[in-house]
Amino acid sequence: MLGLKLPTDPRWVNIVEKNVEDILTDHAYCEQKAASTAISLIVSFPEYTDLVKEMTALVKEEISHFKMVHDRILANGWVLGRDRKDEYVLQLLKFFPKGGSRTTQLVHRLLYAALIEARSCERFRLLSEELQDKDLAEFYRKLMVSEANHYTMFLGFARQYGDRTEVDEKWQQLLEFEANIMKDLGKSETIHG
Ligand SMILES: [Fe+2]
Ligand SMILES: [Fe+2]
Repeated sequence: MLGLKLPTDPRWVNIVEKNVEDILTDHAYCEQKAASTAISLIVSFPEYTDLVKEMTALVKEEISHFKMVHDRILANGWVLGRDRKDEYVLQLLKFFPKGGSRTTQLVHRLLYAALIEARSCERFRLLSEELQDKDLAEFYRKLMVSEANHYTMFLGFARQYGDRTEVDEKWQQLLEFEANIMKDLGKSETIHG
């Protein structure tokens, strides 16, 4: 359903289970970055009214996810740690050339966001199915549904604002590129690691 070319090795869940504090910390920042991305799209592309409306709603939703994760960290008696580099995201950015028209840049940012949402959704689904802690599994099941909607929304905007054929081609290339990155990942207790 997500079009991803390489599924995550389910053994990644075993790594996560050994360090729930780290995964929740990393996850909290994923939600914060999702909210920040939505704000930044509003600032960069204010004339795209449909996008601005959806991003306004998205900021609220993503920051409410941040709160859910943060509350869980506190409920465990932990304090939110510092953010760390997201190797996956850094690698993914290399796919997109700098420059290009304003529309091209918008399309690139939308496809980038769509892919991160899709991979997050896939990881949340795996957690919801495989985690021994059923309460945490249910927590991830609910989030998985939200992220699936975000993935389709971003991809839909890319197709709406860009040239449909070009966007679809670029999306396929991006999926291939991402599958290559994923070959070396799935080994750490981070959402995309
Ligand atoms: Fe989210
Ligand atoms: Fe999201």
